[in-house]
Parts: sequence; structure tokens; C-alpha cells
Amino acid sequence: MNAPSAIELFHVWDTYARVITGDHMFHRELGAGVHAVLAERFAARPFSVLDLGCGDAATLTGILRAFEVARYRGVDLSEGALAVAKRNLETLGCPFTLQHGNMCEEIAAPAEPVDVLHASYALHHLSRERKEAFFRDAARKLAPGGLFVLIDLVREEGQALDAYHRAYTAWVRATMSSLAPEEHDAVCAHVVQNDFPEPWTALELLANDAGLHARTTLAPHPWHRLMVFEAR
Ligand SMILES: C[S@@+](CC[C@H](N)C(=O)[O-])C[C@H]1O[C@@H](n2cnc3c(N)ncnc32)[C@H](O)[C@@H]1O
Repeated sequence: MNAPSAIELFHVWDTYARVITGDHMFHRELGAGVHAVLAERFAARPFSVLDLGCGDAATLTGILRAFEVARYRGVDLSEGALAVAKRNLETLGCPFTLQHGNMCEEIAAPAEPVDVLHASYALHHLSRERKEAFFRDAARKLAPGGLFVLIDLVREEGQALDAYHRAYTAWVRATMSSLAPEEHDAVCAHVVQNDFPEPWTALELLANDAGLHARTTLAPHPWHRLMVFEAR
């Protein structure tokens, strides 16, 4: 059997669950921001959700519980994560589908428009070219009045990618106190091999070029940000 890659190691979901429970990536603060945005737009009507890179869907399920969800579709590369997502979504009581696949193919495929396109901590895995295509496809995918709700890592303006990797991995070891040392190693290897975050202004430019504009951004920490886009 091949050794698991760093991306699989990081997606051993009990490690990621500890990252979330410890609020090390600010899911709590960012989730409160998502709740506020959805409450403002969708308190009075049901809405559809497409969740790309849904993982175990644990955080979003908790948020959606307060709303009437017409249908939910989640897409992820990890079958293990989707198995956990299924259990979480069953508690929501809305129709849902889960797809094992690549979010870039999903968003590019012709399908019914959605009210809420959600991608949390997944976009930064894509190259700049793929992010550019993702924003263009996102703009096409939104139903009238729809929102693209993006939570992601962003590097600081002017910060080179390798400087970001050095700073982020040092921060992981210094602050993610609920993880064991070998989990720190796995997370850090994952970051260096798989994370390609852009600065906020680069994401804003990609959104503008795609015909989207940012209506809300929230950054409880410089590298962890909620960005909500809608059609211009
Ligand atoms: C850090 S987890 C985030 C999970 C969840 N959205 C959250 O915020 O808690 C990133 C997820 O994105 C998925 N992912 C990364 N690249 C992907 C791609 N190209 N297509 C589909 N899923 C992808 C990974 O498998 C993983 O489940």
C-alpha cells in the first residue's frame, strides 16, 4: 500500500475535527458571519446550496439548521469526508446529494443555478489559473439574487508564497495547542505541499473580472477570511 499523501493525512477527519473544535481556523467567527449574511438575504424564503470542497459539512450543517434549505449538494474529493457529511446532512431534514468529484468540474458543468454557492477552505488548493476559471464559473452559477460565500486562507499583501508557508507553519506549531506533535507535522506538510492562497486584492480582482463584487468581508485573523460576492 502507498503511504498516504499529506492531503490525505490532513483529512484524517478527527485531526481536522480538532482544528475546528479548537477554533484554530476561526470556523466559529467566520460561521457567525455566514449566518448573518444568510439571515439578511434568505430569512424569508427557502434557498438552494452548492457546497464545493464540502469536507464533512459539519460547520455549514450547523449554520443551515437555522434556515429553510430547499436542496443541498456537496462535492468533495475525499470519500471519507463525504461519509461523515452524509451523517451530518441527514440531521438537517432537507433533500441533499453528495458527489465524490472535483469541484472545478462540478462548477463548470451546466446545471440549475443556485442561490448560495459555498466554498470553505478549499479554493486555496487551486492554481491561479484554476481560481480564475472558478470565479468565472461561479458568476454563471448564481441564481438572481444569489451569493457566492467564500471562506478561505489569504496571504498578506506582498507576502511571497514561501514566506507565507514558513510563517503559517510556525503559527500552526505555536497556536494549534489541541493537536499532537505528529498532527502538527501532518498539517504543516499539507500546507507546504497543497496550499496556494492569494492575497485578498488578487481574489477581489478575479471576482471583479468575473462580474462579481464583494458585498461583505470579515477577517478575524489576517490569514483567515470570509468573502461574500454577488453579481454586479
Ligand atoms: C480544509 S477542508 C475544508 C472542509 C470544509 N469545507 C470546512 O470548511 O470545514 C478542504 C476540503 O476541500 C476538498 N478539496 C480540495 N480540493 C478539491 C477539489 N479540487 N475538488 C473537490 N474537493 C476538494 C478536500 O478534500 C477537503 O475536504
